[in-house]
Amino acid sequence: MSLASRYTLKGDPYSSHAVVLDWLGDGRGRRLLDVGAADGLLSRLLTARGWKVTGLEADPVAAAAGAPHCERMIVADLDAGVPPLPGDFDAIVCAYQGVNHLLSLSAWQSFFGCAYRHLNPGGMLVFDIATVRYLMTMASIPKVVEQFGDNYLQITVSTTDGARFRWHIEVFELQRDGRYVLLTQAVEMRSFPVDQVKEALCRRFTDIEVIGGDGRSADRESEGRIWLACARPS
Ligand SMILES: C[S@@+](CC[C@H](N)C(=O)[O-])C[C@H]1O[C@@H](n2cnc3c(N)ncnc32)[C@H](O)[C@@H]1O
Repeated sequence: MSLASRYTLKGDPYSSHAVVLDWLGDGRGRRLLDVGAADGLLSRLLTARGWKVTGLEADPVAAAAGAPHCERMIVADLDAGVPPLPGDFDAIVCAYQGVNHLLSLSAWQSFFGCAYRHLNPGGMLVFDIATVRYLMTMASIPKVVEQFGDNYLQITVSTTDGARFRWHIEVFELQRDGRYVLLTQAVEMRSFPVDQVKEALCRRFTDIEVIGGDGRSADRESEGRIWLACARPS
């Protein structure tokens, strides 16, 4: 799990998850795949809403923490290919900008195609993205510093071409002995205009909806982070 998400999720666990929970509604025993399930923050909420959740997570430590909140947890790195999955799903969720880590539109299309193949007819794909506007804004400011408890998160975003954005993440983490340890991580992210993403989705999916962080329709790029949901035709 990335350093940034480890801290931002702890600081803001429910506000954005509320959008996906509202959208998916009660599971009533339906099957859901949580891609990048991490330590199960979202899986737990979905399980409580009656979904039978299969988590998929590359980080074995996060997966072990998330496993109790899922019916099944699969430890696998999607970059190495899709692992065997136990049947098809009624919903697939990828929360917290996982798709932005795919750095080409063809990689986004492959992800959508893969989700399509693992959904039952009528099944839903739900994911959120950081918009191009948001990534540009982050690159235009010197840095973001946030305090989480006694720890500090510092994010510096840079881009050389306005397409790929490099996130340099530093966490100053307070230790029991009172000293701070510096943890660092660099990740690359990319986004595409919402219309381009919708066009890629509509090759396979119907009922495409775009929702802003406030849960209302967001067809423009004015928001930093948006959710997209669509359905595999019945
Ligand atoms: C931001 S966290 C997700 C949080 C969780 N979905 C939630 O909403 O509470 C992203 C997770 O995706 C996982 N991840 C990133 N790349 C992955 C890959 N290639 N295959 C599987 N998991 C991956 C990371 O390890 C991390 O735990």
